Amino acid sequence: MRFVDVIARKRDGHGLSREEIDLFVAGATDGSIPDYQCSALLMAIVLRGMTDQETAWLTDAMVRSGDRVDLSDIPGTKVGKHSTGGVGDKVSIVLAPLAAACGVVVPKMSGRGLGHTGGTLDKLESIPGFRIDLTIAEFKRVLREVGTSIIGQTASLAPADKTLYALRDVTATIESIPLISASIMSKKLAEGSNALVLDVKCGDGAFMKDPAQARALAVSMVAIGTHAGVRTEAVITDMESPLGCAIGNSLEIIECLHTLKGEGPPDVADVAVRLATRMVLLAGVETDQRAAARRVEDALHSGRALDTFLRMVEAQGGNPRIGDDLKLLPQAPDVDIIRAPRAGYVTQLRAEGLGRASNVLGAGRTKVGEPVDHAVGIVTRVTRGARVEVDQPLIELHHREGRGLEAARELCAAALAIADQPPPHRDKVLGEIR
Ligand code: URA
Repeated sequence: MRFVDVIARKRDGHGLSREEIDLFVAGATDGSIPDYQCSALLMAIVLRGMTDQETAWLTDAMVRSGDRVDLSDIPGTKVGKHSTGGVGDKVSIVLAPLAAACGVVVPKMSGRGLGHTGGTLDKLESIPGFRIDLTIAEFKRVLREVGTSIIGQTASLAPADKTLYALRDVTATIESIPLISASIMSKKLAEGSNALVLDVKCGDGAFMKDPAQARALAVSMVAIGTHAGVRTEAVITDMESPLGCAIGNSLEIIECLHTLKGEGPPDVADVAVRLATRMVLLAGVETDQRAAARRVEDALHSGRALDTFLRMVEAQGGNPRIGDDLKLLPQAPDVDIIRAPRAGYVTQLRAEGLGRASNVLGAGRTKVGEPVDHAVGIVTRVTRGARVEVDQPLIELHHREGRGLEAARELCAAALAIADQPPPHRDKVLGEIR
């Protein structure tokens, strides 16, 4: 089989066979198909799409390109979670201990920040001593002892995705539902969970900007998981504005601690409770939706979820005293305030601009491998829809000696809109796919 013929078949709108897809993934992983041919096929897939069957074969070939974690010796149903990425999206850090405190085993492999979106690993690394590079044996020990562990994806997991993702990033071929689905699901299926809850973000700060696209991505990923024998559900959540108030690594850990103490922003707790309820049901800990929701609320308000989080922190080398003393977390030396230029209603607090503002202050990267500043970032003091008066403080910029401050101010000002009338209400949870 000549690979140029495979590219031509997709270019002309034909479906690919399993053998053709296997050839592509194996050749991309071992380098026997050159980057220019891989990129040409990726672009043909972006333009021509893939059937559900082709997407399932692509995912399966990507899973088989590396190792699959075997968690079968850990008792209980293992329920994984993945978010398609957003701004201020700290849900995993609250959700994993919350579901674990309800009796669900939650193995979680996470990523770093990508573009304007933040990464769970960067946030956790702001906790002094916290290790995200556990071996699989250590990961399993923490899972057994605490019920949850959050670590970085190991290099041997779906290596085909690493090659293809790097090519997609520089060939304008990220935006494709089959390619995004296969990329995410290959990593999730390789992690060895028995069930999976997906948080598909939708809106300004998400990869999927409109609800129809977000729904199509959710349907595609649920179909792939189910086809692979992993019970998979998706919740579509709003990412027009950031989730919660804090954007930036240490600032988000502080907000997670507030949420686990029952004192955080309601939207963070609502999304975490909604997803945890689904995880409790998927794990079979409860069979009734209302009983599952009650169990989750009780774990949150009794302090058991906080205790589970701090035990995970300690088991992974971090300082559990952050639960009592937030000053142990990195703090930016300087804080500037953006004030309301006029009175009215906040109609826009656009997530992408605020995410970029946090990144230019140093919370994110401009190049792969660059260090991040864990202390800096943004805190919004108002939410979309709030009534504000002229000069009222709206946004805090936590910075280090002015680094990126002017650019961040401009990005925040452009992300913000105030008008005479309140904006239409937007629900945080936009839909569910089961
Ligand atoms: N996240 C991923 O892991 N892959 C994609 O293709 C997009 C977002």
